[in-house]
Amino acid sequence: MSAEHAFPPPRPGPFRVLVVEDEPLMRSIIVQLARSEGYEVFEAASAEVAFQIFEKEKIDLAILDLNLTAGGSGLELLKRMRAIDAEMMGIIVTAYASVESAVEALHEGAYDYITKPFANEHLKAVVRKALESKALFRENRYLRQELREKYRFDNIIGKGDAIEQVFRVMEKVARTDSSVLITGESGTGKELVARAIHFTSERANGRFLPINCGALPENLLESELFGYKKGAFTGAGQDKVGLLKAADKGTVFFDEIGEMPLALQVKLLRALQERECYPLGSNDPIAFDVRVLCATNRNLDAEVKAGRFREELLYRINVININLPPLRDRKDDIPLLANHFLRKSEKSLARTGMRFSKGAMRLLINYPWPGNVRELENTIERAAILAETDVIHSHDLPDKLRSPSTAIVANLESSGLTLEELEREHIRRVLEKVEGDKAKAAQVLGIHLSTLYRKVQRYRLDDAGVPGSAESAAHTA
Ligand SMILES: Nc1ncnc2c1ncn2[C@@H]1O[C@H](COP(=O)(O)OP(=O)(O)O)[C@@H](O)[C@H]1O
Ligand SMILES: [Mg+2]
Repeated sequence: MSAEHAFPPPRPGPFRVLVVEDEPLMRSIIVQLARSEGYEVFEAASAEVAFQIFEKEKIDLAILDLNLTAGGSGLELLKRMRAIDAEMMGIIVTAYASVESAVEALHEGAYDYITKPFANEHLKAVVRKALESKALFRENRYLRQELREKYRFDNIIGKGDAIEQVFRVMEKVARTDSSVLITGESGTGKELVARAIHFTSERANGRFLPINCGALPENLLESELFGYKKGAFTGAGQDKVGLLKAADKGTVFFDEIGEMPLALQVKLLRALQERECYPLGSNDPIAFDVRVLCATNRNLDAEVKAGRFREELLYRINVININLPPLRDRKDDIPLLANHFLRKSEKSLARTGMRFSKGAMRLLINYPWPGNVRELENTIERAAILAETDVIHSHDLPDKLRSPSTAIVANLESSGLTLEELEREHIRRVLEKVEGDKAKAAQVLGIHLSTLYRKVQRYRLDDAGVPGSAESAAHTA
């Protein structure tokens, strides 16, 4: 399945530091300092040698003298190195402290600069800080990569026209910055699709920030979105950055957008159009750059007609629509999803080789899943925990899957029973339930009593030993 180990976690072991300094005494001082911090240290007296080492070893950080007598400046060298490995950190050491060279160094990608003479502790601290920020960056990148793997399209399970169509649209919109409105019942995978779009888009390095518009009261929702200034209201002890700004260069996912109060819809629309917003209690607009993905289980066209949703906002967020059909309308996906979730459960239970019995799978396929994929996922998880053997049987599944109507649908669709056999079974069950009272049974079945008699005879249901059937027949005949 997913290439989980394609991107290894940050390499363990000490950081590798390269010291480039042509003055032998100064070089040995810096080398000693770096060693005393536990780094693996390489040294070079010239740019040329330094570059060779850089190409061979995976250097995390270089400490470079600005003026190398042999072979140009440390800054030139740093530029060359960072063109190849943008993650390598550089610290420039210079005796000729001038604002210009320092600023230039930072501009060219040096993390910091140090002027000679320097205090040992200062050099150590600067190096430490640089490596910390590098570790953080790496860790972040690793976590992002993990997320990207997790939300790759192929982790979205499904086949059949409806889902294929969803995939096609997703692939197209991922490459754009368009707003997408994802519609569908609860549990159909709207958030999963939103995350997949974000993590395959150009904005994957930015944040994906979801906000549930139905979960917060209006004023809280507003301050969450736009932020506020200290003192904007009682309790606003300090400035707060709004979500729109916090997600800068990333994606905001407005879940349950249909629940957003009208007044706030207007403010949001304005903010999205202007690409800036006003934190509560502030007159200074804050610019932001976010992609907007929305989800709703409501019919927003109808909401617009009913005056509960702003038409202009709908146009703004619904540039592209992705509709996720309910699970009951894509039953082909149920076995795929069920097996997918069973594999997932196995993993967390540290088991292998689990599977569904035929009967269990039939129940899964025929249940209408009002809670959609989420309900299926929970059901499988529970069954996997409860199952006593590797095979999950019907009785490991919750009773709701065996309700009479479900069973009938099950029979209809996959039992291979003929319509007559099915009818016989249904009548038999009803008779059993009403304890053989044919008048009642006819009522439940919605057929005429005489019709029921004919069917009972034809299907020999009296012979089948339905209790009390003979008496009640005698009664009502
Ligand atoms: N096609 C799918 N493949 C795999 N998992 C899915 C799929 N659709 C939904 N899920 C899972 O079902 C659960 C509910 O999905 P979610 O995106 O939260 O639904 P919604 O936002 O529509 O309520 C999540 O755990 C999600 O990972
Ligand atoms: Mg959701």
